Amino acid sequence: MENQHHWEVEEFGEVQQKSMRLFLAENHSPEQLLEFTKRFAELMTLYECAIKEVTTKLEVLTMEFRSTRSRNPINNIQSRIKSPESIMGKMKKKGLPYNLEMMTAELNDIAGVRVVCPFIDDIYAVADMLIQQDDIVLLQRKDYIAEPKPNGYRSLHLVIEIPIFLSNRKLPMKVEVQIRTIAMNFWASLEHQIHYKKQLENSQELGEEMRQCAEIIHDTDVRMQMIQRKMHLVSEEGEKK
Ligand code: GTP
Ligand code: MG
Repeated sequence: MENQHHWEVEEFGEVQQKSMRLFLAENHSPEQLLEFTKRFAELMTLYECAIKEVTTKLEVLTMEFRSTRSRNPINNIQSRIKSPESIMGKMKKKGLPYNLEMMTAELNDIAGVRVVCPFIDDIYAVADMLIQQDDIVLLQRKDYIAEPKPNGYRSLHLVIEIPIFLSNRKLPMKVEVQIRTIAMNFWASLEHQIHYKKQLENSQELGEEMRQCAEIIHDTDVRMQMIQRKMHLVSEEGEKK
């Protein structure tokens, strides 16, 4: 698939090392540390498998569209596993203990897949294509396109449950799927960078400017969508003649 890359690359060995350091900092015995590290790494592997299942489904759709249709609603697919630091940060923020059971129960976004589409209609089409597959369970749907965040953020977020098949069991895993247009993705990438540089003294000004850009981008997304629909109609007419 063209353009496919990881959105936050995290080498697996690195994940293990980080979790080890975090655990050591809390004064556990070396045996406990070893056991935890092993189980943490195993759990992350399960989430990696879930990502693989979801991206494979999306790649299958892409291949089908390429072979049977004139255009593909998927521009590119990215994925990432949440870093041990972000996992810990979120557990702390939620006031939860740093154990694997709590992590799996409480965090929806340990496995994340992002789908970037050309047009707004494509977002809903791709979401439906995923949700209607009979091994996928939809746990949560947040439409930040219909209801953008106050800062202007737009995307469709799904939390799905997908089974992974191991040697002797089948496990349901949670995956967060973010679906957005190329333009929304462009905006969110810059907003993400600004968000992590909160010490910027002109952050309020930038925030307002970003909010305005989000509106302009949305306007353009809507207009591009209308042009695309018209083009589609014209080509259908052409086919009938
Ligand atoms: P998080 O604790 O941030 O995961 O929030 P949540 O559990 O309420 O989920 P939500 O659907 O609001 O956001 C989940 C993810 O969407 C985030 O981790 C980001 O990747 C992305 N996201 C949400 N809001 C924004 C935003 O304002 N800007 C950017 N750049 N990304 C966002
Ligand atoms: Mg998140």
